[in-house]
Amino acid sequence: MEKQRIKSADLAQPLHRRFLQEPNRTKNWGAIVEQYIIKGGIPLEGEVEIGGAKNAALAILAAANMTDETVYIENIPDVRDINAMLEAMEGIGTKVERVDRHTVKVNGAGLENCIVESESMKRIRASYYLLGALLGKYKKAQVPLPGGCNIGSRPIDQHLKGFKAMGAVTRIEHGFIIAEAEELHGAHIFLDMVSVGATINIMMAASMADGNTIIENAAKEPHVVDVANFLNSMGASIKGAGTDVIRIKGVKSLHRTEYSIIPDQIEAGTFMFAAAVTGGNVVLRNVIPKHLEATSAKLLELGCEVHEYDDAVRVISHGRLQNTHVKTMPYPGFPTDMQPQIAVSLALAEGTSIVTESIFENRFRYVDELARMGASVKVEGNVAVISGVEKFTGARVSAPDLRAGAALVIAGLAAEGITIVDDIYYIERGYENLDQKLRALGAQIEKVASEKEIQKFKLKVG
Ligand code: EPZ
Repeated sequence: MEKQRIKSADLAQPLHRRFLQEPNRTKNWGAIVEQYIIKGGIPLEGEVEIGGAKNAALAILAAANMTDETVYIENIPDVRDINAMLEAMEGIGTKVERVDRHTVKVNGAGLENCIVESESMKRIRASYYLLGALLGKYKKAQVPLPGGCNIGSRPIDQHLKGFKAMGAVTRIEHGFIIAEAEELHGAHIFLDMVSVGATINIMMAASMADGNTIIENAAKEPHVVDVANFLNSMGASIKGAGTDVIRIKGVKSLHRTEYSIIPDQIEAGTFMFAAAVTGGNVVLRNVIPKHLEATSAKLLELGCEVHEYDDAVRVISHGRLQNTHVKTMPYPGFPTDMQPQIAVSLALAEGTSIVTESIFENRFRYVDELARMGASVKVEGNVAVISGVEKFTGARVSAPDLRAGAALVIAGLAAEGITIVDDIYYIERGYENLDQKLRALGAQIEKVASEKEIQKFKLKVG
């Protein structure tokens, strides 16, 4: 596998700073305007190492502020959303030391205030995790209203409902959410819908509230369990994470810990579908196969082979994929974050498939882009009816959000000819070195930033 090389001098300063200081990163929250260019049609083969789970890491970094002692966290992915979170934490006085590319030491003892003002924080959804973490520890927090991918309206009423039940007063002023409590106490909270963010946020605040909290209809995603395990390793008392009912006994203080983030099930699943559409044979290392079961089950329905090992999975794809139907559901159902990737695969399968998106209403925005490559997809409300075509042809497309962007890359890998994917800063929010990892599997893909580089790639691949 192609190794990532970083110069030792670069390690002297945190990655998120290095990133911000690079020249020309002015547009799209500091990003150079870059594209992926892909020559499709090559079956992916080989091994790929999966990184730490972005969505677990975002919450765990916020939770690391809940102790005055130093917390050591490994397997942090080096992606934009994480770097935005680290920058925001430094902005409120957290000491962040990047030990290496995937390891940080965090010390929240010197927090100057509980007002998170960082510009980049407004663009990521996970800014809300600082609300739960700071409210739990300091009984007050002020955080910008969350941004993130435009995949539908994304209210946080359930988070606020939980905080209010614990005695906090919340209000929105000048684009900030402010939460304060004279005393934060345990509560019995029924979530109206299964929400990953609300479950984690309430769990964090409740860890340092007085008394016991019960969260009913809790989210069961692997990253909810990972955050609970992390908090427990700091001295919290959380039971039942991974089930519908989570019980939390508040403690007075939390302490130092060393923790390694779980592998990213969505990054893994993305490579599994990339193997599927290219007729590939790929081993994914550093995964927890149990977390991938919904994805693996669908790949079997599509006609692929999936072999599970202790911490690896192999996907083998032979010939044309078969149609199937899929509906996104909270874990252990099929994840909404894998919906565009499976839809791209079904668009190349034999027959008609139906994809129902039941979590976010705006998650079919990639369909028009995919149509440029020859896909036949009709969307009505939250249902996409996909008539499989035999092949895609390369085209210039634009990533509308993180997972849809990754799905368009997958489409490009399968397409005949050249595909250019614009707006890849979305993809870089959640995928580390996607192009490098794909190249190591034999794909012809490069990151380019000019017409000249595009021409150079075309000449190279012939
Ligand atoms: C998390 O978002 C993830 N983000 C998303 O990943 C993921 O798609 C989503 O969970 C579902 O798995 C992070 O972890 C940072 P929810 P979150 O609260 O927490 C509704 C990616 O690509 N809802 O589980 O925002 C909501 O509108 C991203 O990595 C309310 O109505 O998702 C949605 O329909 C995109 N009120 C449903 O619940 C609330 O207070 C589930 O949302 C909260 C949620």
